[in-house]
Amino acid sequence: MICRQRTGIPVETGAVVQDAVKTAGKNVYGKTTSAKKFEWTCPLAENDAVYGLGENTRGINKRGFRYTSWCSDETNHNESTQSLYGAHNFIIVRGKKTFGIFFDTPSRITFDLGWTDIHSITVSSETDGIDVYYITPEKQTKESSLCNIVRQFRTLIGTSYIPPLWGFGYQQSRWGYRTEKDVLEVRKQFRKAGVPLDGICLDIDYMEDYESFTIDKKKFPDMKKLSSDLKSDGIRLIPIIDAGIKIKDGYKVYEDGKKNGYFCKKTDGTEYCAGVWPGRSNFPDFTRKDVRAWFGAQYKNLTDAGIEGFWNDMNEPAMFYSDESLAAAFKKLESFSGKNLDINCFFDFCGTSGSTFNRLDDYKRFYNEVTLKNGRIAKRRHDTIHNIYGSHMTRAANEGLSAILPGKRTLLYSRASCIGSHRWGGIWTGDNKSWWSHILMELKMLPSLNMCGFMYSGADTGGYADDSSEDLLLRWTALGVFTPLLRNHSAWNTKRQEFYQFEHPQYFKSMMQLRYSLIPYMYSEYVQDALSGGMFIRPLAFDYPDDSRACHIEDQLMVCGGLMIAPVYEQNADGRMVYLPEKMTMVRWHAGKAEQTLLAKGDHYIEVPVSDIVFFVKHSALIPLCRPALSTDRLDTKHLTFLGNGIKYDLYEDDGFTTDIKTEGRIRRVRKEAE
Ligand code: GLC
Repeated sequence: MICRQRTGIPVETGAVVQDAVKTAGKNVYGKTTSAKKFEWTCPLAENDAVYGLGENTRGINKRGFRYTSWCSDETNHNESTQSLYGAHNFIIVRGKKTFGIFFDTPSRITFDLGWTDIHSITVSSETDGIDVYYITPEKQTKESSLCNIVRQFRTLIGTSYIPPLWGFGYQQSRWGYRTEKDVLEVRKQFRKAGVPLDGICLDIDYMEDYESFTIDKKKFPDMKKLSSDLKSDGIRLIPIIDAGIKIKDGYKVYEDGKKNGYFCKKTDGTEYCAGVWPGRSNFPDFTRKDVRAWFGAQYKNLTDAGIEGFWNDMNEPAMFYSDESLAAAFKKLESFSGKNLDINCFFDFCGTSGSTFNRLDDYKRFYNEVTLKNGRIAKRRHDTIHNIYGSHMTRAANEGLSAILPGKRTLLYSRASCIGSHRWGGIWTGDNKSWWSHILMELKMLPSLNMCGFMYSGADTGGYADDSSEDLLLRWTALGVFTPLLRNHSAWNTKRQEFYQFEHPQYFKSMMQLRYSLIPYMYSEYVQDALSGGMFIRPLAFDYPDDSRACHIEDQLMVCGGLMIAPVYEQNADGRMVYLPEKMTMVRWHAGKAEQTLLAKGDHYIEVPVSDIVFFVKHSALIPLCRPALSTDRLDTKHLTFLGNGIKYDLYEDDGFTTDIKTEGRIRRVRKEAE
């Protein structure tokens, strides 16, 4: 059951699609106060766990730390980081009374989850309108209360984004594929080594002067021909689009936006200006419907060149400086001139040029036009609605692309997000590093993202910043094989990390063969989970709630209906301990082949050389595998082999791009005997 408690007149965030929820009476948990600011408090018992909050650092069980939902252009992802790019305000408390709670607000909100006091949660926000949804598990369901709460929540927030089938293929990316030649080289190397590939991402290098929706003709003379040549080989181009629009006469997108008043403005009615990649830029007011329609229509410049996939970036929005913060920084820097820089002013001096990045006072300088939940249109200072800015860029793209390519799914993922945008696109988890700890960080983030509806997600495999190594990339890829979005992306100033830069391309080939063999199964599970509110990736606690060992495990995950993974995330490890909550089939994937061994419930030390992927199949499950192919459009699901001891599997299949997604008539029962 879901109940709602409303304070003030909230801003429409787009998160909730279900109107028919009860007004909270008795069915509330904790206590709410809203005298000066909104606050919700709730006691925690000794063994209670807290799950959720989507894209964040630290554990799957989030108890013991504090987080702030504030979409941030944050390059430091570590244990002190309280905000990343997304605002995912949903938590579940597992205890004597297990319940879910969702705070539907576009503004900054903090979650003190037993950090100040390990025995209580305090959630607070300086908002003047917020909807709080309480979710009680339904009685008599076959699934665990935790899965049931997520399922109800996901019904409340609507069906997660379903990418085209090719979005499950491998994507190669790098900030630094500067020309058509660079792109063709990537394709050549993949195809030469026989490694599957479905997408090559174009970073800001392809644009003219970093202007969104433009193509630099000197570097990419014929994008249409390039995309069509690649497509005939099963590879799609996926260009980046940035939120900030360069202020430049003659740049059509800017001129149109300016003429029509589509950019965010300050109180004096002038456009707010801040610096991003192209320098001084304006920012579309994405919370306005007409602005979204205009921005969404711009994607046509690229779909006309045959493009079918995009990634939206810098949409928190990221701001390197504003006119105001830059002027203040210069003034301050000048004030140091001629001074004896002692301890009191040297550090101040050092911090001054970096002080202009993503400043809260800059987010207070401009306004967005929003819709309130009573239907009225109102102006709101940006910082009070900040968390829905990026998500509404995804919405603009999604709605625009649906109008440009009716009936066809487009690949779309974003950096900034808020619950609501899980319906409009996926997300990648931003600028991580080539660190071993970041493999584990991704592993822990994935189930939380699924709880919040972000099913199509994944990290920059191999790490974005810093230099990757072959062992790191292999171990990370062994996790990535199980995430819906699988993309190797890195920054221009790092060591190249395409698989062919390393000594053992055959190891990557084998791993990608597993991925492609699993795609029909993963896709079938993904679509059915998206439609029914199931979780594609779960903590063990969600499948084995009565097994206290399983409930405390944070480095193994349940994936799809029938798999458990236990990735290796430590350098030089030759394997790891794995806990099996039930009898399972261990699958060792080596050199493109599976070897299966039945293992008993309990603890096992499993050796895992860097060339192998080891994973586990639930005892009752049957997992279909198809023959791998070089791209998803060449996968043949007529000839299947199977993993595990189950007797049947209901395989969902469609054409891979239709937007009319339903299971009726599209499920084929497959059985082992057919092998
Ligand atoms: C941002 C993105 C990163 C991209 C870079 C250049 O930092 O997060 O993925 O490579 O911008 O566009």
